[in-house]
Amino acid sequence: MRQRKAKDLDKRMEACGAWLTRLPLAEHGGDAPGAWERDESRDLFLEIGCGKGDFLIAKALADPGSDYLGMEGQETVLLRALEKARETGGGAEDTGDTPAASSPLSNLRFVCDYVRSLMDLFPEGSLAGIYLNFSDPWPKARHVKRRLTWRGRLKEYAQVIRPGGAIEFKTDNDDLFAFTLEEIAACGWTPAEETWDLHGTDLPAREVMTEYEKKFLRAGKKIHYVKVIV
Ligand SMILES: C[S@@+](CC[C@H](N)C(=O)[O-])C[C@H]1O[C@@H](n2cnc3c(N)ncnc32)[C@H](O)[C@@H]1O
Repeated sequence: MRQRKAKDLDKRMEACGAWLTRLPLAEHGGDAPGAWERDESRDLFLEIGCGKGDFLIAKALADPGSDYLGMEGQETVLLRALEKARETGGGAEDTGDTPAASSPLSNLRFVCDYVRSLMDLFPEGSLAGIYLNFSDPWPKARHVKRRLTWRGRLKEYAQVIRPGGAIEFKTDNDDLFAFTLEEIAACGWTPAEETWDLHGTDLPAREVMTEYEKKFLRAGKKIHYVKVIV
């Protein structure tokens, strides 16, 4: 659901600018001002549709040896992620272009944009993995290609993920999960992990939860999860 524009959005975004980056990424040979200049030998994980950032902030804190990038199309939603990153990873006075190297979240950035083609953004094999959490279901058949787990998109993800990297998907939506399993099969892949009730298992993916996951669990819903190694 589209959110109303937050009060003082531009000013508030600017205050958290240290965690905001632009595409093309520096490693793609792009020279966009503000692109993230990172050490390419480190693993880079992407979450598409990162919402208010809880999941990615927790992943980045738990794994300081890797880099995490969140893309979110709605700026009012992303603002919350940026503000949480600043609250957790820096001081209120932290208005630099990048987080301090000593920040516990110096390995995290966000991009405010809708993901279309990843091939335009990332070199082949440059990502260690992609997370898709509670992606919009797009239930109408004519919108099938807008689903983030449609086979055309999955194949594109596999091109930008290095061999051995993973695509991980969580949802509460039965139809979208069934559809995703079919699309994975159509790509010729067999899931490495697959469950209709993640929190009834001891899979590691249950340990870091997203905002939607917490909300649906509280409402008594089952969380579906699948992981594919590409
Ligand atoms: C239902 S929310 C889930 C948010 C979060 N991942 C979670 O699990 O709590 C889906 C989010 O994905 C964003 N989104 C949908 N399609 C996107 C795309 N192609 N690129 C970036 N963000 C997208 C929406 O704006 C929305 O905030």
